Amino acid sequence: MKGTVLGIEGTAWNLSTAIVNEKDVISEATDTYSPPSGGIHPREAAQHHAKYASAMIRKALEDAKGKGVRPSDIDAISFSQGPGLGACLRTVATAARMLAITLDVPLVGVNHCLAHVEVGRWKTPADDPVTLYVSGANSQVLAYRMGRYRVFGETLDIGLGNALDKFARSAGLSHPGGPKIEQLARQSKNYIPMPYVVKGMDLSFSGLSTAATEALKRHSIEDVCYSLQENAFAMVVEVTERALAHTEKNEVLLAGGVGANTRLREMLAIMCEDRGASFYVPEKRFMGDNGAMIAYLGLLMYGAGDTLKIEDSHVDPNFRPDGVDVSWRE
Ligand code: ATP
Ligand code: FE2
Repeated sequence: MKGTVLGIEGTAWNLSTAIVNEKDVISEATDTYSPPSGGIHPREAAQHHAKYASAMIRKALEDAKGKGVRPSDIDAISFSQGPGLGACLRTVATAARMLAITLDVPLVGVNHCLAHVEVGRWKTPADDPVTLYVSGANSQVLAYRMGRYRVFGETLDIGLGNALDKFARSAGLSHPGGPKIEQLARQSKNYIPMPYVVKGMDLSFSGLSTAATEALKRHSIEDVCYSLQENAFAMVVEVTERALAHTEKNEVLLAGGVGANTRLREMLAIMCEDRGASFYVPEKRFMGDNGAMIAYLGLLMYGAGDTLKIEDSHVDPNFRPDGVDVSWRE
């Protein structure tokens, strides 16, 4: 797919703009909202995005100029249409519409979850994988079949990352909790029984997070972190494995911020090896939320003629990946 697209990501904390073409990422500029304390305040995150949107767009354009790509070379503007926090999505959509009008190019609305999958297919050898997407707010197992990405399993309550962060907060660990839990878990091999909740193909993490907080009263934090990780990761590996078996695919792709975890990678690698499947992990910059993935899926959709009229470019905080007719794959 030939072309040059500027994409804007801003579903949650991260505001990120990037310019890509079919060969590579040309430029990327990111600014992350960090709340003074506690969790995310959607309105404040949106205000952050509003404040920095033009600076990040300008920076991506400036850096691209240094590489010989001018604003007039841009063929389309893409943005995260959802899922995410409504206030943040609306802010980013407004910036994207303005830019598309200014440059007089088409607008492309991108599903955030599918952008994680597509950037992984671009930046790893994965061709037709089962994708495990685990971030703060999202936990899904996705795979392509007959014109759509199907959701084979997903969380019924909170995302895996949020479950880790919630427990971490209760244990007095600073945000984000995931990396701290990983460090502490390394210091134990003492498993304490914890809830393991897989319902059909779906997952639930909220009870596990609460049980871990409770367990702190009787056990060391290292033992609790170890056991929490073992259960949470075994749950997502189980659903990923069943999706592999069901779809008869032979590749697994990892996506989302929780994918940074070494123990999770190890468990997935073991499962894949047992099944004779290949396991792919993109570079860190393409794992968490990033503008490049939005620009890249924007490029694929632009190439397929899958663009939006300004009046149809509303955002959807609950935008489901399995609701998208995939225009860009055979
Ligand atoms: P999304 O809108 O996609 O849900 P997000 O804002 O949650 O995005 P990500 O960067 O994809 O962003 O993921 C952040 C989550 O990843 C946090 O919950 C954090 O605790 C978790 N995380 C980061 N590093 C690790 C790690 N090493 N082990 C476990 N969890 C981790
Ligand atoms: Fe994400």
